[in-house]
Amino acid sequence: MHLLLEIPLFLLIVLYSYLEAVVKLFIPAKRKSVTGEIVLITGAGHGLGRAQAYEFAKRCCKLVLWDINKHGIEETAAECRRLGATAHAFTVDCSKKEEIYCVAEKVKKEIGDVSILMNNAGVIAPTDLLSTEDHEIQKMFEVNILAHYWTSKAFLPAMMSNNHGHIITVASAGGHIVAPFLVTYCSSKFAAVGFHRALTQELAALKKRGVQTSCVCPMFINSDFVKNPSSRLMPPLEPEEVAKQVMEGILTNQRMIFVPPFLKVNVMLDRFLPVRAVAALWRLNELKFDAVVGYKDKEN
Ligand SMILES: NC(=O)c1ccc[n+]([C@@H]2O[C@H](COP(=O)([O-])OP(=O)(O)OC[C@H]3O[C@@H](n4cnc5c(N)ncnc54)[C@H](O)[C@@H]3O)[C@@H](O)[C@H]2O)c1
Repeated sequence: MHLLLEIPLFLLIVLYSYLEAVVKLFIPAKRKSVTGEIVLITGAGHGLGRAQAYEFAKRCCKLVLWDINKHGIEETAAECRRLGATAHAFTVDCSKKEEIYCVAEKVKKEIGDVSILMNNAGVIAPTDLLSTEDHEIQKMFEVNILAHYWTSKAFLPAMMSNNHGHIITVASAGGHIVAPFLVTYCSSKFAAVGFHRALTQELAALKKRGVQTSCVCPMFINSDFVKNPSSRLMPPLEPEEVAKQVMEGILTNQRMIFVPPFLKVNVMLDRFLPVRAVAALWRLNELKFDAVVGYKDKEN
C-alpha cells in the first residue's frame, strides 16, 4: 500500500485502539479457567512465588514448584495440597542451566507437559556498582534472566505444538524505572521485560496465539527480598495481595501487569517528563530501602 494511504490508516488504528481501551474500562474482562493446568513456578518457596502457588492451588491446578530452598518449597507444596491441589516440590538451583534442563526432563516424564510457566525466582544485591562483587553480578543475571531462557527452551516447545499455554515473566518496577544502588538488578529486570516483549512478538509472528504471555511488574513487596522498603506514592504490598492482582492479570491474559496499577502512570511519566521533572517526581515519591554503599570518594 502507498505510504500516503498507510499513514491515515495507522492514525485510524491508533484512534480505534484508544477508543477500545476506554470501552474496556467499563466492560468486565473475560476470565479464563486454569483448572487442571500444569503450572510450574520457580522460586515458590517464599514470598510472591509461594502466594501465587496458593492462588493456583485454590483453582485446582497441578503444581510443579521449584526453589533452591528445600524446606521452603516443601512447606509451600504441603499447603497447596491442603488447599486441594496436586503439588510436586523440586529443589532446583535456577542459576544452573544443566540442573534446570535435568529437572525439566524429569517433570515432563513424571508429571507431563507444563502449560503455565511462571519464571519468578529472583535475587538482588542492593549495593553501588563498584562495590557489587563479580559473583553477585553474575548470579543476578543467571537467576533473573538467563534462567528464563532455559525454562522456556524446556517447556515452550510443548506449548507451541499444542498452541496452548502461558509464559509469565516476573520482572519488576525496576524493569521500567531505575534506582541508585540497583544497577545490576535493574539491568537484569530490563532484560526480563525485553525478553517478555520480544517473545510476545515472536509468538505472534509464528501464529501461536494460543500461547499467552504476561509480564509481572510489582513495586515493593513485603517479603524481605528488599530490606525496609518504603515509597510515599506506592507503599509496599503483602505478597498475598500482589498474588491476587497477578492472578487477575493472568486470567484475563494481560500482557503487562503493574502492581499496584498506579505504577503504570509512574512509568509513563518517567518516560515522557523532562529530566528535572523526573527528579522532582522521585523526591515526591521518597523511595527508600536499605542499600550497602561501599564507594567512598577520595576527597570525602
Ligand atoms: N520483593 C520485592 O519488593 C519485589 C519487587 C518487584 C519484583 N520482585 C520480584 O519478584 C520475584 C519474587 O520476589 P519475592 O519478593 O517473592 O522474593 P523472595 O526472596 O521472598 O522469594 C524468592 C524465592 O526465589 C528463590 N530463589 C532464589 N535464588 C534461587 C535460585 N538460584 N534457584 C531457585 N530459587 C531461587 C528463593 O529461595 C525464594 O524462595 C523476584 O523475581 C523479584 O525480583 C520483588
